[in-house]
Amino acid sequence: MLILVTGGTGYIGSHTVLALLDAGYEVLIADNYINSKPEALRRVRKLSGQDVPFALCDLRDEAATDALFAAHPDIEAVIHFAGLKAVGESVHKPFLYYDNNLKSTLNLLNAMQKYGVHAFVFSSSATVYGDPVSLPIREDAPLHVASPYGRTKLMIEEMLRDIAQADPAFRVSLLRYFNPVGAHPSGLIGEDPNGIPNNLMPFIAQVAVGKLDRLPIYGDDYDTPDGTGVRDYIHVCDLAEGHVAALKALTAPGVYTFNLGTGLGYSVFDIVHEYERACGHPIAYAMKPRRAGDVASCYADPSQARDTLHWEAKRDLAQMCEDSWNFQRNNPDGYNDD
Ligand code: WQD
Repeated sequence: MLILVTGGTGYIGSHTVLALLDAGYEVLIADNYINSKPEALRRVRKLSGQDVPFALCDLRDEAATDALFAAHPDIEAVIHFAGLKAVGESVHKPFLYYDNNLKSTLNLLNAMQKYGVHAFVFSSSATVYGDPVSLPIREDAPLHVASPYGRTKLMIEEMLRDIAQADPAFRVSLLRYFNPVGAHPSGLIGEDPNGIPNNLMPFIAQVAVGKLDRLPIYGDDYDTPDGTGVRDYIHVCDLAEGHVAALKALTAPGVYTFNLGTGLGYSVFDIVHEYERACGHPIAYAMKPRRAGDVASCYADPSQARDTLHWEAKRDLAQMCEDSWNFQRNNPDGYNDD
């Protein structure tokens, strides 16, 4: 069964490609390297021992997207990661985010319908919950987005609900990620953000390896145990395995929504202290004012995924930090090292 993985050389995409191959699926990766590097593909091929097929394809190009499906009539399902995901950048460049995230998804869905491909797993995000009204967050919680990035995720979810309503052949799984962190235990693939990291763990990793001077901690006056933000961090390998479980369960028409999180909330200081244990030395930090758009706490009720997908996160915070550190210290400059 051939699975098209868009954005398959990215952070979560590359880990999911490995999990799919481990589960016996055939994979075709389509990517345009807007937020990833060819080295990631070389390492996925090395780790899997397979010459994983790759198509350089910008999904914003309707003709190129159509040609991708025409050239691969054996595609049976799509896992769609391709998209821009920096919240702050989306505020300054909304057109880039609407153009990239919405146009590419529409081209993909058009091609899927034309070529009779109806199984679709979508990379959504807990960002659609905004500032949660209650915790832990269930899938039926109110949705409220506060950035163009978040709006593209919610718009795509709504598009998919409408499409599946109009064409009952479609089988759609919406996976709402909480905070993906960590790396494959080999230390060969991991998180390699362009420029200064927006997210907490890659920033800590770069401080730990000496690439950055100190961690800015955005706010210590939240209504949380130690005043810093609380999030549901999930190991990227658990997240990848969640996609395989969602694909296997996608047997009936309709739209199915799942939180992919651990159900546990950890503060910024919890992460800093666990990372210090993993790397064996202190992480320098400086307290800063709150970051615009941040919420105090956000963590999942993952019971729907547990009960329906028979999936739950297995790796703990220590493993997340150890695997993140293992990748960072083996690749101080990310994939640019090679
Ligand atoms: C986590 C905590 C920060 C950086 C974002 C997106 C979300 C999803 C995951 C795509 C917060 C604090 C962070 C730093 C800090 N991405 N922090 N110093 O904001 O929960 O979620 O990434 O889907 O859509 O919004 O993750 O890692 O940026 O922040 O103190 O340098 O760490 O304030 O409390 P976030 P994050």
